[in-house]
Amino acid sequence: EASVKTSQRKTLSKLTCSPGQARIVAYKVAVLGAAGGIGQPLSLLLKMSPLLSNLNLYDIANVKGVVADLGHCNTPAQVSGFTGPAELADSLKGVDLIIIPAGVPRKPGMTRDDLFNINAGIVKDLVEVAADTAPNALINVISNPVNSTVPIAAEILKQKGVYNPRKLFGVTTLDVVRANTFVAKQKNLRLIDVDVPVIGGHAGITILPLLSKARPAIEFSTQEIEELTVRIQNAGTEVVEAKAGAGSATLSMAYAGARFAESCIRALDGDPDVYECSYVQSELTELPFFASRLKLGKEGIEAFVHGDLNNLTEYEQKALEALKPELKASIQKGIEFVNRES
Ligand code: NAD
Ligand code: LMR
Repeated sequence: EASVKTSQRKTLSKLTCSPGQARIVAYKVAVLGAAGGIGQPLSLLLKMSPLLSNLNLYDIANVKGVVADLGHCNTPAQVSGFTGPAELADSLKGVDLIIIPAGVPRKPGMTRDDLFNINAGIVKDLVEVAADTAPNALINVISNPVNSTVPIAAEILKQKGVYNPRKLFGVTTLDVVRANTFVAKQKNLRLIDVDVPVIGGHAGITILPLLSKARPAIEFSTQEIEELTVRIQNAGTEVVEAKAGAGSATLSMAYAGARFAESCIRALDGDPDVYECSYVQSELTELPFFASRLKLGKEGIEAFVHGDLNNLTEYEQKALEALKPELKASIQKGIEFVNRES
């Protein structure tokens, strides 16, 4: 467990490099949807990473300005822009990691599943080209509904004959970031010391923080558990409502997305101590996709942290059973979308 905390410390410190600190590490990353609300700040945070040699920014519009702007930062990564489907394949050539925040965000009153009709097709089209051009790259899917878009990506990769379940990730880091923030505040702990695994999926009740597995070990009252769990589950909606029609979380998501990307790259680079929660193909439960804590390595997922699902509290066990039908339906919807279209 000490290693988990170490992992978090490393990530946070490496995200704030100064220009003179460049390490000789040269990973290539593509951001698809780079001109958007998440894409822009995520690209800025990635541009600050000393681990990148190239940052390829793709969107259907408005990329040139983002590239000109970011390119003036005196950090090592070379920033290149790609606009529209004709340039998509070029943006993916030789990349180690593909991050996908392309798609529409929620407005008040919508569920993440309400985004399915638009975002399913966007993710499908992007992953088709990724499969042809960068079949060995890690893929981080941010576009909602993550519970369905990750199964969509998996089906496309399978159809193309290049699916490697160890390399496809739904980004649920924001749930962990929120859980850590809310718990540290509630319990007056140092933020850097708190790590709460969040399992299940990334929508409503499918988001299940395991407060009993929080580090350091923390005592919670029943009321605190219920209130914290509901706050973490509804935190996305909290932001959607506060933005009142202007979109959903972008800055905290960019932070979380950059943390997860940095973890993926450190793992590719051979760091033996990288742990993150993510929504992936899984055998931890009867569901084919499930978010849980993972050890990342040079080939993607190296191991599942099985212990997190042992000795759940009665509250967590009930919540786990309650989330399964919704998560199962979202997975099925994604799989059927691809198979219906083909
Ligand atoms: P946004 O509308 O600000 O940006 C989306 C970008 O995607 C735009 O620049 C748009 O041009 C681009 N885009 C649209 N179609 C595209 C295509 N076919 N190819 C490439 N780019 C395309 O939205 P946002 O706030 O950045 O949110 C993006 C997505 O991320 C949404 O689906 C949102 O729900 C999701 N999200 C996920 C999490 C998470 O925790 N996984 C958190 C926040 C938001
Ligand atoms: C979030 O958790 O903030 C994202 O999934 C965006 C949303 O729609 O809530």
